[in-house]
Amino acid sequence: MLNPRLDQLKDYPFQRLRNLLEGVKPPEGMRPIVMSIGEPQHAYPDLVGEVLAANRHLYGKYPPANGTAELRAAIADWLRARYRLPDGMIEAERHVLPLAGTREGLFMLASVVVPPEKRGRQPAVCMPNPFYQCYAGAAVTAGAEPVFVPALAERHFLPDFTALAPDLLARTALVYFCSPANPQGSVAGLDYLRELILMAREYDFVLALDECYAEIYNDQPPPGGLEAAAGLGGDLRNLLVFHSLSKRSSVPGLRSGFCAGDPAIIQAFVKLRGYASAPSPLPVSAAAAALWREESHVAENRRLYQEKFRLAESVIGNRFGFYKPAGGFFLWLDVGDGEAAARRLYGEAAITALPGEYLTRDDGSGLAAGKPYLRLALVHGLDETREALGRLSETLG
Ligand SMILES: Cc1ncc(COP(=O)(O)O)c(C=O)c1O
Repeated sequence: MLNPRLDQLKDYPFQRLRNLLEGVKPPEGMRPIVMSIGEPQHAYPDLVGEVLAANRHLYGKYPPANGTAELRAAIADWLRARYRLPDGMIEAERHVLPLAGTREGLFMLASVVVPPEKRGRQPAVCMPNPFYQCYAGAAVTAGAEPVFVPALAERHFLPDFTALAPDLLARTALVYFCSPANPQGSVAGLDYLRELILMAREYDFVLALDECYAEIYNDQPPPGGLEAAAGLGGDLRNLLVFHSLSKRSSVPGLRSGFCAGDPAIIQAFVKLRGYASAPSPLPVSAAAAALWREESHVAENRRLYQEKFRLAESVIGNRFGFYKPAGGFFLWLDVGDGEAAARRLYGEAAITALPGEYLTRDDGSGLAAGKPYLRLALVHGLDETREALGRLSETLG
């Protein structure tokens, strides 16, 4: 009765965390602080409520599967400005597809691009390890073999896809890659991205670049896949980038993101979405368009994250392999045993944090890329973050 492919998936990390913490009681009277989930708690701009209210009469209409022209245009303008793309490279109508949050798009993409067989064999879907869990769910439900490519500290947490055997690459249908990375915050340079795009064309797989943390960075704006493609002459073949308002504008509940890139994939994607998607309501699309056209709240958001990482640096110092990530909002701490540390933090400091193991799959070399680590999302306000860091420092010593 049930799809046996689902047996290849473990429980989602948050369920595993609930199981781990079952029976552990936080100290009486201590306010719980949830840092296990990357759910931004910064204030979002007032324009969200205003635009939703002004467009509320549109809740009575079905939204189109490919979003609204207004939103596609706002996204295309944003992409051109953010990545300094040459005129004509991105056309709103051909290259941009709004999504109801990036997760559903990242997941559904596998059904668009993974064939039943590639070169007569089971197709592979490659992804970094550790990774955003949606990638593995998408791979196995599409009937592919998920392949986990270690992203270890000694390689600046960047997976080496070029080291994969040509035989495996030949049956690879899709590669997911995330920059800035969840969980480690590593950022791929333009050379790395260009090499990946060229590999996608050589082996004819689709490269899905998850850039949903692109606007949260420490120092330099992370380069993007479209920028890399521009450097290769502007061809978008085999490439899709994914972006989200959830992190950029602190509206995870708005459920709004997009993908952009290869027009042939976008066209097939729109076709499938006609059957399967629940596109964003029209008032949400109007609010999303307004957000992509507004930058001051993004700069303020980024400033707050930078301040919290400075605070973390001053509290944690050089313990647990602390580093300020180039992008994203996670602390990725080497605590020796992530599960044990998560239990202690909850039981002694009322802090919920995610063991790195739950984001990692055994890739043949064990769980080295995740098991020793703990992921903490710095998503709260300054005062709460200060309180959390103080408790963490005291508890883990
Ligand atoms: C790496 C990564 N990709 C995609 C998403 C999905 O974001 P959303 O569906 O809210 O756009 C997340 C959310 O946590 C994420 O961490």
